[in-house]
Amino acid sequence: MSAGEPDERQEFISQDKEKGISVNNGKHQPLHGQVALVTGASSGIGAGVAKALARAGARVAVNHPGTPEQADRVVAEIQSAGGTAMAVAADVSNEEQVKKMYADLFSAWGTIDILVANAGLQRDAALIDMTLAQWQFVLNVNLTGQFLCAREAAREFIRRGVDSNRSIAAGKIICMSSVHEVIPWAGHCNYAASKGGIMLMMKSMAQELAPHRIRVNSIGPGAIKTPINRMAWDTPEAEADLLKLIPYDRVGEPDDIARAAVWLASDESDYVTGITLFVDGGMTLYPGFATGG
Ligand code: BGC
Repeated sequence: MSAGEPDERQEFISQDKEKGISVNNGKHQPLHGQVALVTGASSGIGAGVAKALARAGARVAVNHPGTPEQADRVVAEIQSAGGTAMAVAADVSNEEQVKKMYADLFSAWGTIDILVANAGLQRDAALIDMTLAQWQFVLNVNLTGQFLCAREAAREFIRRGVDSNRSIAAGKIICMSSVHEVIPWAGHCNYAASKGGIMLMMKSMAQELAPHRIRVNSIGPGAIKTPINRMAWDTPEAEADLLKLIPYDRVGEPDDIARAAVWLASDESDYVTGITLFVDGGMTLYPGFATGG
């Protein structure tokens, strides 16, 4: 090995927490030594976020609602890239299952530093056709699920407090919201209500938890290529239609969201709390007004 080359055998960690910089083995790993839980991480945005947090150095619990094969694939991908991950099952809308998931996580890795409350789904219908079951299912998973997972994380963050070897903050919660926390969406009133609810739940939690040095923020993705919206992008005609709503003129990828999640989870965003970071190629900029109005 020539002089100046990083020695892979010798773990080299330099951390300047004041500047929020953390380098491990020559790699920029701002989440080195931290534990993360990502809900709904067996596919789509959640899987992308889980992989990115692992690349940034976190040990990642990959939550799934009962799809272990898919979650195991995400875990295997993280491990083969040199990261640490495990699959954890729970329906996030079920209080007992959420508590059990956290108990399993703590018995494996001791504590938690980062929650990405990502699990979410759509059950679309026109208002006059929407069943109570469709309404409740979406609210239960998307909104109550984030409440249950955030509550357990916050309890542990407060119990442990700040450990400056891990992070400047006692904990970080990232809620996966949507552009539909501000953009009304006909035919999706259950989904839009859940995301609008997340907005004020997140801000209220941020206000309440800030004195404990816990940061709470949301990411508001626009149209990201995942299974949830496949019909909106998987033919050239559908994609052309969708692009009319995206000034930046490309449909997003899970990695666009994942990079924002790493930043919000890291000390590099210390002092950022209570915001929704829209990652949407400008979808929230009322693109119709570029030529109209
Ligand atoms: C929805 C997607 C939709 C996107 C933009 C997301 O929150 O889940 O189905 O494509 O918002 O409208």
